[in-house]
Amino acid sequence: MALTPVCVEDFEQYLKASVSDFFWEYYRSGAQDEQTLRDNPLAFQRYRLRPRCLRDVSQRDTSTSILGHRLAFPVGVSPTAAHCFAHKDGEVATARGVSSVGSAMILSMWSNRTLEDVAASVPPDTPLLLQLTILRDRSRVEAAIRRAEAAGFKALVVTVDEPMLGKRNYDNGKEVDLTGIKFPQVLRSDEQFSRDQIQFSDSRTWNDILRLKELTSLPFVLKGILTAEDAVEAVRHGAAGILVSNHGGRQLDGVPATIDVLAEIVNAVRGSGVEVYLDGGVRKGTDVLKALALGARAVFIGRPALWGLAYDGANGVEKVLGILKEELSLAMALSGCSSVADITSDLIAVPSYCKL
Ligand SMILES: Cc1cc2nc3c(=O)[nH]c(=O)nc-3n(C[C@H](O)[C@H](O)[C@H](O)COP(=O)(O)O)c2cc1C
Repeated sequence: MALTPVCVEDFEQYLKASVSDFFWEYYRSGAQDEQTLRDNPLAFQRYRLRPRCLRDVSQRDTSTSILGHRLAFPVGVSPTAAHCFAHKDGEVATARGVSSVGSAMILSMWSNRTLEDVAASVPPDTPLLLQLTILRDRSRVEAAIRRAEAAGFKALVVTVDEPMLGKRNYDNGKEVDLTGIKFPQVLRSDEQFSRDQIQFSDSRTWNDILRLKELTSLPFVLKGILTAEDAVEAVRHGAAGILVSNHGGRQLDGVPATIDVLAEIVNAVRGSGVEVYLDGGVRKGTDVLKALALGARAVFIGRPALWGLAYDGANGVEKVLGILKEELSLAMALSGCSSVADITSDLIAVPSYCKL
């Protein structure tokens, strides 16, 4: 193993080495043939940068905000389930790493640590958002919302691409044995996980989003939107943000890489005030620059945060995010940008199939 990881991908091997083959595949894999999983990072390479020269880039400011909360740089952590397999402190370590570099974290509803523990482990101004899966038993979702409100979470992120779990071939039909695993946002303390009891709602519709709006005054982001049509619906239904995501290639295989649909979605919501974010395959500072040039306000990383967690807990998460921050700052300097406001669409040459 490399002694000092120098880029984000260098951290992946540490997760592989620290979990069983089964859990490694759980974290790594995508749906079916993994076309979308492979395409997410590759697609970034099809976009070329158009740097500007002879601009003073001696002072660079990578900071931005999401939903009014400051970030030191435009990269946050996307929700991924079950951090306790990657590190004993689980999501508490992730949150500490995130907060130490001024980033944001979307906590999965399927976390192993309670959202109260996570909130208590970081300063109160840390942008923590809670991801929600719409379950058949809506009362469990409502209970999680109430707890997030009480714990000072800044927003909710509703995952909309998951009426059912995508088909992943790695488990060969075998299901992970989740007996004894804690999912404290989904299960009450006296309950054991049971797939019959905890089921995703395959009958949820936009009416559930309207209901959510009535239930809480927290702003909400819809995660998993991939078309202009759904982006327009999201605006109509009161979303404060859209996270363009294909679930890291884990749901419907064959959907486009997220960077390839970003411009379509940004254009569809232009003027609405809704913020657009992206996740999927972000591994380099130049990926961040490209997404911002196409109109994203911020990007999020899923697997790389788990790699960092396995490398060295909070410190590893901090390192992964720190590398992205440094690489972004360098990419800004080399392309003539002093602030994120300078990162505009004229900085990017898009492939012919992508409409701006
Ligand atoms: C192991 C794993 C677990 C995930 N769990 C969740 C989850 O609980 N809720 C959710 O909305 N998305 C979940 N996702 C999707 C991520 O939020 C995110 O969309 C994806 O990982 C981004 O792609 P990247 O891993 O290439 O950065 C998960 C992804 C992985 C890899």
